[in-house]
Amino acid sequence: MNTYHRLPARFCEGNGSKVKDINGKWYVDFTAGIAVNSLGHAHPVLAKAIADQAGKLIHVSNYFQSDTAQAFASELVAACAKVGMVNVFLGNSGAEANEGAVKIARKYSIKKYGPGRHRIATLQGSFHGRTITTLAATGQDRFHVDFGPFTEGFLYLPPNDLGALEKALDGTVCALLMEPIQGESGIRPLDAAFVKAAAELCDRKDVLLMFDEVQSGVGRTGTFLACERFGVKVDVVTLAKGLSGGVPVGAVLAGEKCKDTLGVGDHGSTFGGNPLSAAAGRAVLSIVTKDDFLKEIIRKGDKIKSTIAGWKHSQVKEIRGQGLMIGVDIEADAWPVLETCLSKGLLILSAGPKTLRFLPPYVITDAEIAEGLATLKSVLDGLK
Ligand SMILES: Cc1ncc(COP(=O)(O)O)c(C=O)c1O
Repeated sequence: MNTYHRLPARFCEGNGSKVKDINGKWYVDFTAGIAVNSLGHAHPVLAKAIADQAGKLIHVSNYFQSDTAQAFASELVAACAKVGMVNVFLGNSGAEANEGAVKIARKYSIKKYGPGRHRIATLQGSFHGRTITTLAATGQDRFHVDFGPFTEGFLYLPPNDLGALEKALDGTVCALLMEPIQGESGIRPLDAAFVKAAAELCDRKDVLLMFDEVQSGVGRTGTFLACERFGVKVDVVTLAKGLSGGVPVGAVLAGEKCKDTLGVGDHGSTFGGNPLSAAAGRAVLSIVTKDDFLKEIIRKGDKIKSTIAGWKHSQVKEIRGQGLMIGVDIEADAWPVLETCLSKGLLILSAGPKTLRFLPPYVITDAEIAEGLATLKSVLDGLK
């Protein structure tokens, strides 16, 4: 189906942070498949883990057990322990993970408080997925045309507005779902002070605090979870994208409060947590959870931001983000810029009409950063 505005490049191979098209032309990749290829392309540890697992057991029903899936789940929970996660349900995508979060919130509340407290607050400008429920959770009107009726019970609050949150938590709301850095709407980090106050408020009112870390998680911002930097206890975290380095995966993790909310028969997923995606996930975790590796993500992100700031370019209006999740507002429309970048050998995305979005693989080298940025600068220079 014709659901994508596809760009004129056909890729057949990749290596690190470079990809090759069918004509043999190599490109620097500042996109990582929208934050998916966390370890870049053809990473030897990831490729070996996938090949080895494929040679043994790709899939087994969740009615049985798998050491690989169990080990992945344990390692993932350990990686998220800092914010209080204690268990996980494995699925296949970000939207599916968020569906799981919504089910946890709804059931947690109905069991404890009965009906009438099923609403979930999200933020204006958020993006939570493309299923009917996660579209309903998405706080952007443009996603709310043509596909209704949507799942009922979502409300959209202005980001960083504690007063609006206080007013909204009127006894009908069971959860607050937020991206620590809004990705699709332009790489917009939440204020730490707001999150801290929101966490206290949610705790007081027994409203679940849920972070959608589908784009910002798995080391992307230089900590394993972006919400770690807020120093708050979280009830639910969702992950996907970079978690298995390109093999489809999704995860909804729960903290102490709601770890037993979903019981036998409440939820399921045929492919969820299959040994292939679990083996890939274990390979990613074995690298991405290391402190030195995470520090490098911050260093590389800072390098990108400081280089662009140093251009003092008339096209560059604002630079935002953390680690290797960066948004740059420009004067011009972003789409023609990224098309020209593509023709010159650079893959870069937009997030909103005038924002360039940088989500490179974590393994990107300084030389590749320099090459990609030189291409981008030449394109921006051409607009002067
Ligand atoms: C924050 C966030 N949540 C959810 C999703 C949906 O993930 P998926 O496309 O894997 O369903 C995305 C995808 O861009 C996302 O950025």
